[in-house]
Amino acid sequence: MKTTLDPKQIEQLIEAAKEARGRAFAPYSRFSVGAALLGPDQQIYLGCNVENASFGLTICAERAAVANAVAHGCRDFHALAVVAESDSGLVTPCGACRQVLAEFSPHLTVICSDGAGQTKIFGLDDLLPYRFDFNAR
Ligand code: THU
Repeated sequence: MKTTLDPKQIEQLIEAAKEARGRAFAPYSRFSVGAALLGPDQQIYLGCNVENASFGLTICAERAAVANAVAHGCRDFHALAVVAESDSGLVTPCGACRQVLAEFSPHLTVICSDGAGQTKIFGLDDLLPYRFDFNAR
């Protein structure tokens, strides 16, 4: 996907997501994910996955980043970087996280990276077409 972000900004966002990934709490899946959301004034809000012994209570990195941004007063995101290491290719946000991200920024740029040089950029509208929109009901 084409993006208005410059390569330096993309790299910076990926680095931030990597930093967050280092703080993931994932003792059950051993699958650490980091996320970094870019706000309109260049602020970056981090998130990592936080697992729980009651597995269903696990919070994904992307939703943790959304909660962090909103708690800091930011409800408008320009881009998201997600970093995870996977043998089977890049990790894209799960369906639940796509819906949560779309609540605030349906046209968000989503940068998926393995943290080792492989990167793919998507539009959230492509990742989640026909999202549930309460105002359109
Ligand atoms: N996970 C994320 O943090 N983001 C995703 O988009 C997919 C999955 C986490 C949840 C869980 O802690 C681990 O990855 C394995 O599913």
